[in-house]
Amino acid sequence: MVKICCIGAGYVGGPTMAVIALKCPKIEVVVVDIFEPRIIAWNSDQLPIYEPGLDDVVKQCRGKNLFFSKDVEKHVAEADIVFVSVNTPTKTQGLGAGKAADLTYWESAARMIADVSKSDKIVVEKSTVPVKTAEAIEKILTHNSKGINFQILSNPEFLAEGTAIQDLFKPDRVLIGGRETPEGQKAIQALKDVYAHWVPAERIICTNLWSAELSKLAANAFLAQRISSVNAMSALCEATGADVSQVSHAIGKDTRIGPKFLNASVGFGGSCFQKDILNLVYICECNGLAEVANYWKQVVQVNEYQKTRFVNRVVSSMFNTVSGKKIAILGFAFKKDTGDTRETPAIGVCQGLLSDKAILSIYDPQVPQEQIQRDLSMHKSELDKPPHLRPVSPIAIEQVTCVRDAYEATKGAHGICVLTEWDEFKTLDYQKIYNDMQKPAFVFDGRNVMDVDKLRQIGFIVYSIGKPL
Ligand code: NAD
Ligand code: UGA
Repeated sequence: MVKICCIGAGYVGGPTMAVIALKCPKIEVVVVDIFEPRIIAWNSDQLPIYEPGLDDVVKQCRGKNLFFSKDVEKHVAEADIVFVSVNTPTKTQGLGAGKAADLTYWESAARMIADVSKSDKIVVEKSTVPVKTAEAIEKILTHNSKGINFQILSNPEFLAEGTAIQDLFKPDRVLIGGRETPEGQKAIQALKDVYAHWVPAERIICTNLWSAELSKLAANAFLAQRISSVNAMSALCEATGADVSQVSHAIGKDTRIGPKFLNASVGFGGSCFQKDILNLVYICECNGLAEVANYWKQVVQVNEYQKTRFVNRVVSSMFNTVSGKKIAILGFAFKKDTGDTRETPAIGVCQGLLSDKAILSIYDPQVPQEQIQRDLSMHKSELDKPPHLRPVSPIAIEQVTCVRDAYEATKGAHGICVLTEWDEFKTLDYQKIYNDMQKPAFVFDGRNVMDVDKLRQIGFIVYSIGKPL
């Protein structure tokens, strides 16, 4: 029986390993983490992350061939294949601070693998890492190898949160990079055999190590670049009377462009787009490619601009001040169907409104109050850390309350900001909401999900992204 161990029981390690366990009943999969509460949660009925379909998959194989454990060293020592899926946030201090990837967690995992291993292993980079990381990891693993053979593979993950299970069940592709030596090719084949249990052969792409590492950064950069492109267009639409949804539809019909990922928004969020682009920028700079670095940097700058533009629009529309006014924030997660708030645009928007002295009443179906309070009282550098590693701020934010439904959030409010596209926001009783709000009642739709005509008929003043008033 092949034994797999995955270091890091987070948003990637948990779901990917659960799906491998489900699809490969003859493989034993153990997910390990140094953060014990996460492991306890994975072993409970209340999983540590919200992801549609995940509960079902975990229930089917936990205790059979899927295990979660804090006994990191034991399970690494016993495994044939070790996935490393630890966090790789942006460095906040020292060389490359604000851009380069912080590989502290990766390095400590690699050192531990080298220390505890007694048999040959395939070590798989699952985390998103800078190009050439495998070379550094190889040095760490082999420096103390006691004659053990380690093969490093790059197998970046392309799942998106909120759709992780369906992405893992039917991936567009699985990418495996390895050394072009006979041992490297043998290791690639071993990992291919795992995925071949459910992924068609033509969807498994094998490359050299550096292409696999760079492809992950490139894919995220291209995806984020599309959003910044459409968001840049949304500003021009607002200035000219064009409608960004119509523009997206029209350009997306060109099969060379395609219709996906062209939704204008208050800005992209999530733990990866910004961090991975900044990482790419840093790599370009280190290689003397200033123009290439500047090109990609602009994708992040347009994203910041979009959030600022949204806040400015709210304040200027509400007679140039939101001081003392109650604003309902509907949605705080960085996208629907997740409770993840890492780099959510809601943080920047809420902080912008708070700096203009607004009173915020926030509702999100999946994000707990403590997390919202923590995110909003956090300094930018701390926000790059995973939520459980962020310090709890002693500062209570008096201007913020978190409530349990959208009706409570909007009651007595002057305006509503829709910051996450949760489906339930589409079917609220907006007549009731309007009746209970201050007048004039404003809606600022940061996700273009509202039925604007209906809201205007009720009496709301509605602002959407990139649409005529
Ligand atoms: P996460 O923060 O949710 O999980 C990482 C886990 O690793 C944490 O629970 C942490 O405690 C654990 N960890 C850190 N160091 C460890 C060590 N030495 N030993 C054992 N456990 C350790 O992160 P994530 O969102 O799962 O992302 C992991 C990686 O995958 C990142 O590189 C990210 O860029 C990449 N990625 C993320 C997504 C996503 O949707 N979140 C998608 C694709 C790729
Ligand atoms: C993204 C990629 O889609 C995954 O392929 C990748 O594996 C992952 O990053 C990663 O490396 O972490 P994720 O961040 O989970 O996945 O979610 P996305 O669906 O990509 O959305 C990212 C952000 O862009 C969200 O805030 C979303 O609301 C926003 N977005 C997305 C838009 O504003 N417009 C769009 O058209 C699409």
